[in-house]
Amino acid sequence: MLQRRIPFLALALVFCVAAAEDFDWTKNEKSSFHYGTFPTGFSWGAGSSAYQTEGAWNLDGKGMSIWDAFAHKKGKISSNETGDSSCEGYYKFKDDINLMKDMKLNHYRFSISWPRILPSGLRSEHMNEKGIKYYNDLISLLLDNKITPIVTLYHWDLPQMLQDKYGGWLNASMINHFNDFANLCFERFGNRVKYWITFNNPWSIAVEGYETGEHAPGLKLKGTGAYKVAHHMIKAHAKVWHTYDMKWRSKQKGLVGISLTADWGEPVDVSNQRDIEAAQRYIQFYMGWFAGPLFHGDYPQVMKDYIGRKSGQQGLGASRLPVFLPEEKSYVKGTCDFLGLGHFTTRYVTQRNYPSGLGDNYFTDRDLAELVDPKWPDPGSEWLYSVPWGFRRFLNFVKSQYGNPMIYVTENGVSEKMLCTDLCDDWRMTYFKEYINEMLKAVKDGVNVKGYTAWSLLDSFEWDEGYTERFGLYYVDFRNKNKPRYPKASVQYFKRIISSNGFPNQREVESWKRKAVETCSSSNQLLAADPLIGHMEMVTEIVVPTVCTLCILLSAVFFMFLLRRRL
Ligand code: NOJ
Repeated sequence: MLQRRIPFLALALVFCVAAAEDFDWTKNEKSSFHYGTFPTGFSWGAGSSAYQTEGAWNLDGKGMSIWDAFAHKKGKISSNETGDSSCEGYYKFKDDINLMKDMKLNHYRFSISWPRILPSGLRSEHMNEKGIKYYNDLISLLLDNKITPIVTLYHWDLPQMLQDKYGGWLNASMINHFNDFANLCFERFGNRVKYWITFNNPWSIAVEGYETGEHAPGLKLKGTGAYKVAHHMIKAHAKVWHTYDMKWRSKQKGLVGISLTADWGEPVDVSNQRDIEAAQRYIQFYMGWFAGPLFHGDYPQVMKDYIGRKSGQQGLGASRLPVFLPEEKSYVKGTCDFLGLGHFTTRYVTQRNYPSGLGDNYFTDRDLAELVDPKWPDPGSEWLYSVPWGFRRFLNFVKSQYGNPMIYVTENGVSEKMLCTDLCDDWRMTYFKEYINEMLKAVKDGVNVKGYTAWSLLDSFEWDEGYTERFGLYYVDFRNKNKPRYPKASVQYFKRIISSNGFPNQREVESWKRKAVETCSSSNQLLAADPLIGHMEMVTEIVVPTVCTLCILLSAVFFMFLLRRRL
């Protein structure tokens, strides 16, 4: 079967290479800082996701998600942390909207927890009105404050029941269940929500959830699971888009997109064709895996070639990469009203030449090596190097490959090192300044970017890393059960970018950091006093009632003793 497709493959390869020529891999122009502003109406926002911030994991009728189950297993998350209470966002959303208002955000990106509104995952079984009310209140309050909600339907927290009963995304029935859930969201929230994102970062769901097992549901189905799961998510996305298109669009007039996250892959040597091809594979196996079907109706040719060839060498009768039937190709193609992009970092890429017999998996399939420049700043998470020029390259690549789609940057930001409590986050201000500036250059290049979402509004549960990596503009004191928020200096810096809609002129921009740092020392003092406040709370909430109870008991005993003596 594979052999019969070879002439086709060769033809398609020629076509694909021709299409990719639009993007000039050899031209990496690293220009100096660009002073200027974004087009009027450019939307500024910050983001979060349900499991990472809400807490209230088993309250008000919420069902269990795969992340609740995964985090409760020993050894899966750094220090066995969980998102059980996290930032208590479920209770503190009013405070959080005040923070957004203060920053003058135009939009807020958050996700809906599927098991909070459908505890078993199935609409036919039980709808949790308390959960629906929570999102209704959140959405309405955002709108009252002129903040546009951008809502993600799936930020990784599948109802555990669907995992137990059907094997989660490995099962094609998930397409219908997800569609039912999405349809319910359109029905109950769609009069107010106009921007819908079906999936957040499906790459991570597939590779980290079903290939390496670092994320929930923790499966290690090397070389098969991720491809199967991705195939179902692509179809589920398309189905939800069609549902919206047929049932809701004319009434609600909203848009349905997806959020794909990818690092940029730069050839180690741009004059070496093999390095260029390795970089192409890197990006095609990352975002092309999902963007290809949604924009062109099929997987990137290079994925079909590489996985097909490896499957053949393994003696399999068919490729491990599933195949779209002709009618499925036309069904999935053109189902993105806008493209959400998450982007954090860059890698240099070169060919790897994995020896055969190592076991086939996603990584040996794409057959490349990732390198980093030791000079790149590495302020936070181990994987996150600050390489601003990669962002412009990435955006231009997307423009060239997918017909210049409408783009919303749905995630971009940087974390800080473990246990760092310095609120004067100079490195984050630099990161935002430089990355947003490269985005501005991309807009000048003609890339159709409509909005930018800083990741994230708050420090939150960073998946398998627990609370050790803080991405927030606001510091959250997780030691205190009230989870107070403290602004980092970058809040002030981001506010300046928002109010200027970019970078007006050198003199002004150069004063921003200094001004931001002036405010953070007082926040630092407040945070330093927090254990004291926590201690005082403990005194009032635990020690005082205990001492009082003891006094009452002792007095009672004493009183009885006196009485007995009198008798
Ligand atoms: C992408 C994920 O969507 C988000 O949940 C996570 O916090 C960031 N990456 C940072 O790792």
